[in-house]
Amino acid sequence: MLERTRPNDLSSFWMPFTANRQFKQAPRMLVAAKDMHYFTDDGRKVLDGTSGLWCVNAGHGRPKITEAIQRQAAEMDYAPPFQMGHPLAFELANRLVDIAPQGMDHVFFTNSGSESVETALKIALAYHRVRGEGSRVRLIGRERGYHGVNFGGTAVGGIVANRKMFGTLVAGVDHLPHTHLPHLNAFSRGEPEHGGEDLANALERLAALHDASTIAAVIVEPVAGSTGVLIPPKGYLKRLREICDKHGILLIFDEVITGYGRLGAPFAAEVFGVTPDIMTTAKGVTNGAVPMGAVFVKKEIYDAFMTGPEHMIEFFHGYTYSAHPLACAAGIATLETYREEGLLTRASGEIGQYWADMLHSLRDLPHVIDIRNIGLVGAIELEPIEGQPTKRAFSAFLKAFENNLTIRTTGDIIAMSPPLIIEKEHIDQIGDTLRSILKSID
Ligand SMILES: Cc1ncc(COP(=O)(O)O)c(C=O)c1O
Repeated sequence: MLERTRPNDLSSFWMPFTANRQFKQAPRMLVAAKDMHYFTDDGRKVLDGTSGLWCVNAGHGRPKITEAIQRQAAEMDYAPPFQMGHPLAFELANRLVDIAPQGMDHVFFTNSGSESVETALKIALAYHRVRGEGSRVRLIGRERGYHGVNFGGTAVGGIVANRKMFGTLVAGVDHLPHTHLPHLNAFSRGEPEHGGEDLANALERLAALHDASTIAAVIVEPVAGSTGVLIPPKGYLKRLREICDKHGILLIFDEVITGYGRLGAPFAAEVFGVTPDIMTTAKGVTNGAVPMGAVFVKKEIYDAFMTGPEHMIEFFHGYTYSAHPLACAAGIATLETYREEGLLTRASGEIGQYWADMLHSLRDLPHVIDIRNIGLVGAIELEPIEGQPTKRAFSAFLKAFENNLTIRTTGDIIAMSPPLIIEKEHIDQIGDTLRSILKSID
């Protein structure tokens, strides 16, 4: 391992989504990573139970991806994406369309999940306007949804702590109810049985309340990730699709977490048999190695913009780093790695079953009130300590890291999403570690 010393002053970096004071008193420093593991500055090998932040789907330090980035940095570091192009951008877009649900034929590149969401929302609004339906200005999200941290995404998102500090956000937004029904569906394996149709029918009520002709789009995560792995009850997404079709509302799937094999198919759209009109992705598109996002749209949407004088820009939107050459090189190498190792479907096979078995074997441990799983994602919901919400799960997170395992926590929920290269021995290790932690925390 590389020798690194801990920087002795941690004060300048305002860390994102972090308890800064707690961290700076007892830092958790990662200095290297390979395959299923991180290495810490105090020499420990830590099993990555979360694929970094749900992004390192092929595991860490994969040679093909590293080499592609190195090669591209030496060959052409940067190319402007406005009114200019470079071959890798077109090649990556084509390869992405090859694995996308049928009919999603065009890709707009961004640099993150948050930017993908803003891009999708703007495409939706602009699409209706270019078709002469400019009255469709409302956006519908969902309670407990997470769509990144920019203004549009925060507005359609439904996590209270992420919203309450930031004023009125974006006007004209409403929310569907969240899909977590523990009284009906606790300890479900895969898709829960109950409540799907009723929950989706709430969209009919919003369409009636606002008049459907004012609604541009509905955005949902097929499986809500950051809020603690909420898996939609059976029939929910199909019903949303039906209602959107009936009223001419675009359906956006935010697949920033669920994309690129996490649920056992390239995208969740395939797993649930529902094709959206727009699909936002990021994270796994480059295996987390270079920031990138990719927004997929149906042909009809792209075509609607391709009108007017040919010398005119059709869509006034884009980023300096859209289709960055290093990201494109990483993306192509990532897709090759996924294909060569069968990673985009691996979670649907035996390893996914083993993962589910391990998770549900934890059911009788102290504090556990629900366990959920789908693909290579899992969540364990803990009973909160009275008057101290989030504390119990945060203790579990700290204990897990001390015991050489990374997990994520949100509220009092432990969420896990290991790299798709995981083997049974790693799953056993996760199970053993969680068992001992849940027995030892208050
Ligand atoms: C569903 C979803 N959308 C958007 C985002 C935001 O992505 P980023 O942090 O890359 O901006 C995330 C991040 O976790 C996500 O899970």
